[in-house]
Amino acid sequence: MKMMQVDVRAGRVEGETAEVLVLTHCEGEALCKEDAAALDKILGGSLHELLQTKEFEGKAGEALLFHTHGKLPTKRLLLVGLGKRKDLTLDGIRQAMGHAVKRVRQTKAGAYAVAVPAVMPKGQSPVELAQAMTEGAILGSYQFNVYRSDNSSSREVTSMTVLARQQSQVRPLSEGVRRGKATAEATWLVRDLCNHPSNVVTPTRIANDAKAIAKEEGLSLKILEQKEMEQLGMGALLGVARGSHEPPKFIILEYNGAKKKDERPVVLIGKTITFDTGGISLKPAENMEHMKADMTGGAEVLASIRAASRLKLPLRLVSILPVAENMPGGRAMKPGDIVKTLSGKTVEVQNTDAEGRLILADALAYAQRYKPAVLIDIATLTGACVVALGQFAIGLFGTDTRLKDQLKKAGVASGERVWEMPLWDEYFEQLRSDVADMRNIGGRGGGMITAALFLSKFAGEGPWAHIDIASTDWSERERAYLPKGPTGIGTRLLLQYLIDRSL
Ligand code: BES
Ligand code: MN
Ligand code: ZN
Repeated sequence: MKMMQVDVRAGRVEGETAEVLVLTHCEGEALCKEDAAALDKILGGSLHELLQTKEFEGKAGEALLFHTHGKLPTKRLLLVGLGKRKDLTLDGIRQAMGHAVKRVRQTKAGAYAVAVPAVMPKGQSPVELAQAMTEGAILGSYQFNVYRSDNSSSREVTSMTVLARQQSQVRPLSEGVRRGKATAEATWLVRDLCNHPSNVVTPTRIANDAKAIAKEEGLSLKILEQKEMEQLGMGALLGVARGSHEPPKFIILEYNGAKKKDERPVVLIGKTITFDTGGISLKPAENMEHMKADMTGGAEVLASIRAASRLKLPLRLVSILPVAENMPGGRAMKPGDIVKTLSGKTVEVQNTDAEGRLILADALAYAQRYKPAVLIDIATLTGACVVALGQFAIGLFGTDTRLKDQLKKAGVASGERVWEMPLWDEYFEQLRSDVADMRNIGGRGGGMITAALFLSKFAGEGPWAHIDIASTDWSERERAYLPKGPTGIGTRLLLQYLIDRSL
């Protein structure tokens, strides 16, 4: 499926000829003087009447479509609610645009226009507004039909025009659209990679996709094969991969858009388990199919570096993907096995289902050679994260207040909000082993915390943050701009952080 086009134009709503024209409206407000009121006049007062009769109130999630019967150049008007003006956020804009694009698709129209909302979420600029509009529309139109035999009939929305009131708005709005396209396109890539089943997206396939992206974007690429990992001593990653017939990969991509080429890089690491059966500590059958998305973190750091390159962000960025399949094959690691990590520390593997922290331990140790300005890992790491945070917050840990604050800010702006959890050393007693430097599980309480604390022992001395996306990577139901299944949440958080950092 192709992503729709988004462009910006200045023009008056009365002259708009798109098949559908979308107008947004805040609950409890009068018709906007500059556009809705003018349309209302031409329509003989029907907009006013819809508000009066409360057939349309402007509540968040509300959408009302009607035909203009030749009174206007556009065939249909679609009214979309933004909720109360005082509660309006960027994410409210995204959600409204997600609802809108789905309603437009039902009309079978190919192209539509959206009048720039007359109200702006508090403290936001036209750039941010247009970015959110673009993200909501593109993310809301996502579908994954690759494996359906009957996917030809569905007509797609091919373009959205953001209709600016004044010519002077076109430039900032266009910049927002440019950013929104890049972040939404990155999220699409992540959703695709996570939707494809694990018999298609194997470690080898990810390596091939990384090669294609590196070639297309002119990124430098290194892929370590099993032999090289053995020579280096990545015993933890190799231990996880042992039970599978699929050879593991260790992928490093680098983008350098920095003015000072030898600037210390931002290093991103993403957990890339193409399928997590749990290994010998086998998972229960129920919902195990979700574990095809246990590579979300890796897909996100791959998509992020592609987007950073397409946006030409002025920074140096390294993305690292430790890639393996966690299977209970005949040569698989067994509970009690001890592995030696790249850092030299030994780990007693008491549970082979705590595999994410093992592959990340080696990746974090490997990342030290880049002397990162900032090191961030992102992972579908723990079921405990789902228990603690439910579906609406991402787990955040870190050693650096500034970095954590920047990630929190990026979370609010992107609508992919993080919630900080403690990284206190007291919890480390739960990770002590009788036979090795540590064990890979932390026992009863604080499962998200002990996993993060495990990682911290490999993260070095510099600013480091760990992001646990197990709570948000998969949605049980469709929402305004989120599909059911893999969501790609985390991608726009990372990208917003990178965009903010390079401004
Ligand atoms: N990939 C899972 C975590 C997960 C669970 C992600 C649910 C998304 C949704 C991870 O590898 C795992 O299995 N973690 C174990 C750790 C435990 C054995 C200490 C868990 O959380 O049960
Ligand atoms: Mn697991
Ligand atoms: Zn896992």
